[in-house]
Amino acid sequence: MIKNILSHLPGDFPRQVHWFEEVTSTNDIAKQMAKAGAPHGTAVLAGRQTGGRGRMGRRFSSPAGMGVYLSVILRPGRPAPELMHLTCAVGTLMCDAVETVSACRPKLKWINDLILQNKKLGGILTELSIDAASGLVDYAVVGIGINCNQKKADFPAELQETAISLKMHTGKPVDMAQLAAAMIYRLCQGAIPENRISLMSAYRKDCITLGKEITVLQEAASYPATALDINDDGALLVRLCDGSTKLLQSGEVSIRGQAGYI
Ligand code: BTN
Repeated sequence: MIKNILSHLPGDFPRQVHWFEEVTSTNDIAKQMAKAGAPHGTAVLAGRQTGGRGRMGRRFSSPAGMGVYLSVILRPGRPAPELMHLTCAVGTLMCDAVETVSACRPKLKWINDLILQNKKLGGILTELSIDAASGLVDYAVVGIGINCNQKKADFPAELQETAISLKMHTGKPVDMAQLAAAMIYRLCQGAIPENRISLMSAYRKDCITLGKEITVLQEAASYPATALDINDDGALLVRLCDGSTKLLQSGEVSIRGQAGYI
């Protein structure tokens, strides 16, 4: 697998790509490597994750040989408030990567889900470590999982109505090495742009949440809202039932469509 991934990356690309048959979570391995000094662009991939994680402590199903499970270490050297949009930027770049390999472009559900046919194709988990002395981000680990070759029955029963793989959508098996290389390349080249404006306007175009009636889930509470806009920090502006507006930060809430997952 690793040789196949490298063969799809340009010859002059810095090749810090690590492959494991099985890990708990590629984000955990990448964080250990980042703490030990691994450079910007180091990529960690696994054939299978026994403890794949998503936002809000959710599980990410990661069966052997069926998906790309990738984490990349970024060293942006900027304060955390300048990186609020990072998950959105990664989402747009991952849509680009999928599109080049499979000729279909996923949509994005705010903030971190990749969507096809209104079902979850994959997700992004961003974890930051901040240097206490300088206040700068020491490293960011961005983890992405994309369902590639599953059939419906390969998903856990509770996900079978809400999850999809690229193969279920296109009818063709996915070259996972080619997809992994496209994901690594885009992340290393584009995730920390000087100017976030164009990436964020691309994110808004891909995002299916805008204009939708949603349910906001916050701690034990939930309430209905209409999704109005996403600002350049990736926060979601919503209108509440009483007509007032509110800015939702992704670290605090998750959302559902009022008729189901989307
Ligand atoms: C989500 O669904 O909220 C995000 C899912 C992110 C899954 C990826 S798979 C590679 C990396 N390792 C993990 O444990 N999580 C991310």
